[in-house]
Amino acid sequence: MNKKKYDFSVWDVSEVYAGPGGKLWELLMGEQIHVGGADQTDVLAKKIRLEKKKDIYLLDICSALGGPARQLAEKYGIRVVGLDITPKMIEEAKKRTEGKHYADQIEYRLGSALDIPAHADTFDVVWGQDAWCYIRDKPRLMKEITRVLKSGGTLGFTDWIWGSLDVPEADADYLMEFMVFPDMQTLDGYCKLIESVGMKLEEKEDLGDDFSNHMDIYISILQKNKENIIEGFGEELYNEAEKGVMAWRNATYNKWVSRGLWIAIKP
Ligand SMILES: C[S@@+](CC[C@H](N)C(=O)[O-])C[C@H]1O[C@@H](n2cnc3c(N)ncnc32)[C@H](O)[C@@H]1O
Repeated sequence: MNKKKYDFSVWDVSEVYAGPGGKLWELLMGEQIHVGGADQTDVLAKKIRLEKKKDIYLLDICSALGGPARQLAEKYGIRVVGLDITPKMIEEAKKRTEGKHYADQIEYRLGSALDIPAHADTFDVVWGQDAWCYIRDKPRLMKEITRVLKSGGTLGFTDWIWGSLDVPEADADYLMEFMVFPDMQTLDGYCKLIESVGMKLEEKEDLGDDFSNHMDIYISILQKNKENIIEGFGEELYNEAEKGVMAWRNATYNKWVSRGLWIAIKP
């Protein structure tokens, strides 16, 4: 039974993203630091029917380098607030957005997903991609999301999840410790959390097969860039990264872990 929580704080997570870990994830995944990059952003946008909506104000919780925020602002013409707790990420996101023709549609706010710096009933869409596994207190996260969503607004997000609750404890510990995740949900665990705050679940999807395919891609990018990574970050970090990503890759094939997508509406 691997539903224990791990003792990682927001500080630990911020240290990862402000340091070589953040750069390494960008090397593997691109500036959209989630599985599937820009394509997956379009998939989620399509699921919430973003192209059919007008005057949308969207909150991206854990916006990192702002890659999805920029794509959403440019392609769908919407206004976006990107929220992230790591100053380095906010700084970098702002830098990469400056001078873009849609820059005035985007605002980056430094703050916590557990105390969202926004008034109640503000956003038409709350959005997240592969990041809420860094947040321990999911019930509070869900309460904050419903607070800032307008009535009739949509929640759409993806995240890394347990595919099985019978992962051997030592393996579960290693997977979580490598990623610095304090808590992972299951597909249905998130459904319960969504419903516990009165939101209506519209869709849930297990994206496990796609996750395995991407993990193979990340391993091959790592191995192809071995020399550069060792030169830039040292051999120890390379070896740790290869071991960790390989363990996650194997865990996806064992169906121990997966990735999910959820769409819900605030009544
Ligand atoms: C995997 S990255 C997110 C990637 C981003 N969603 C994307 O698709 O490009 C994780 C981000 O979550 C942020 N984060 C972690 N815990 C947070 C919290 N409690 N509140 C706000 N941001 C947080 C980190 O600073 C980091 O930038």
